[in-house]
Amino acid sequence: MSEERASFGSKIGMILATAGGAVGLGNVWRFPYLTGQNGGAAFILVYLGCVLLLGIPCMVSEFIIGRHGASNTFRAYSKMSGGNAWKLVGLLGVMTGFLITGYYGVVAGWCLQYVYSSVMGELSGDPSAVKSYFESFSTDPVRPMFWLGAILLLTHFVIIRGVRGGIERASKMMMPTLFILLLVIVASSCMLPDAGKGIAFLFKPDFSKVDQSVFLNALGQSFYSLSIAMGCICTYASYYSRQTNLLHSAVQVSLVDTLVAILAGLMIFPAAFSVGVNPGSGPSLIFITLPNVFSQAFASMPVIGWIISLLFYLLLSLAAITSLISLHEVSTSFFSEELHLSRQKGAVIVTVTTFVIGAVCSLSLGDWSFLSIGGKSCFDIFDFVTGQIFLPIGGFFTCIFLGWFVPLQTVRDEFTNWGTVSARFFGIFMFLIRFVCPLAILSIFLHQFGVI
Ligand code: PHE
Repeated sequence: MSEERASFGSKIGMILATAGGAVGLGNVWRFPYLTGQNGGAAFILVYLGCVLLLGIPCMVSEFIIGRHGASNTFRAYSKMSGGNAWKLVGLLGVMTGFLITGYYGVVAGWCLQYVYSSVMGELSGDPSAVKSYFESFSTDPVRPMFWLGAILLLTHFVIIRGVRGGIERASKMMMPTLFILLLVIVASSCMLPDAGKGIAFLFKPDFSKVDQSVFLNALGQSFYSLSIAMGCICTYASYYSRQTNLLHSAVQVSLVDTLVAILAGLMIFPAAFSVGVNPGSGPSLIFITLPNVFSQAFASMPVIGWIISLLFYLLLSLAAITSLISLHEVSTSFFSEELHLSRQKGAVIVTVTTFVIGAVCSLSLGDWSFLSIGGKSCFDIFDFVTGQIFLPIGGFFTCIFLGWFVPLQTVRDEFTNWGTVSARFFGIFMFLIRFVCPLAILSIFLHQFGVI
């Protein structure tokens, strides 16, 4: 099976595809906000530490398991463990990826709707108009469904074209475009009057804010942002070649992801501060606050405001689509390999089932609000269960599995490409995977339930 397995065609394509999976809505709406709230540059330093000491080793671990297995995430864990209970960790990864696809698709669909609304000039008006526009749209029973269907179909067509012709090709077009859009908006935002205040908010280090929760926020964000424990990294690594230097690749992907997150901050905060708006977080930041920010900031040049707003939502849609592709691939490879179906049929199962999940999540925000538990909508529950429960459990057990149960020689062979690349960092890697990462993940897990 492994001889005929698809693979990425070039190194740059492989890095762009993996980085595309990692760069997503989390970089644009969560990172800048967390940075501003948690001590600016001080938070960025802590975040970089988390990426370096925890995110990269966890990513390398998933690379090792994925490339070794050369199959979907469930089977990769199964092969690495010789078929024992550790394969359930792989299954959890597939399940996490599968469940996220639906609700991530809903938000990705909102981004497409906003591209459309920007083109039609519907996002102007006072702040309360944009707020009610978002509220009526996101709770509408039909329109979000249309965009969810559209974005899932788009993803579907990329996926059925295969790893090289679909995923790699799309990433090679979308990621450079995303970068260009990002740079254009950062430049426009930083040229606005009073932009310096936003830059200061983002970069002024305030070490007095650094406490335990800052560390845990940075840690949680680094895992989410790098798409750790969702099956995506492991699935993409199953298409890596035996020559791919796994440590270098993890560093490159993390650098791209972090750079995009910091640039996203430089895109949002200078514009927000130049019009005196204090940016909030989450969906309200990108779907309610920002349309106002752009129209006010460029009020003297409405055409520029219109263009920037359009470019911003295009950028957001690109970031979301590349992540959605990586999520879809987790389940497509699982269904097609485990049920012995063609890639096309596997993809149809995923597109249809995730559409249903997404539709239920979307309806739970409006007409089906009875679908809530403890005041949380179905949408929030999916977010909570996958991000706060499955993600840490999957990450924790992946570290324990690779650090303590897989034969050391197997890990070393994968890490060093069978002795052809340097083993200089292997000792540090093993130390981090065995002790530091599991303890750190355990602490975020316990912290979010108020245990520590
Ligand atoms: N890493 C993505 C982001 O930063 C989120 C994501 C998680 C995407 C899991 C795919 C899978 O937004």
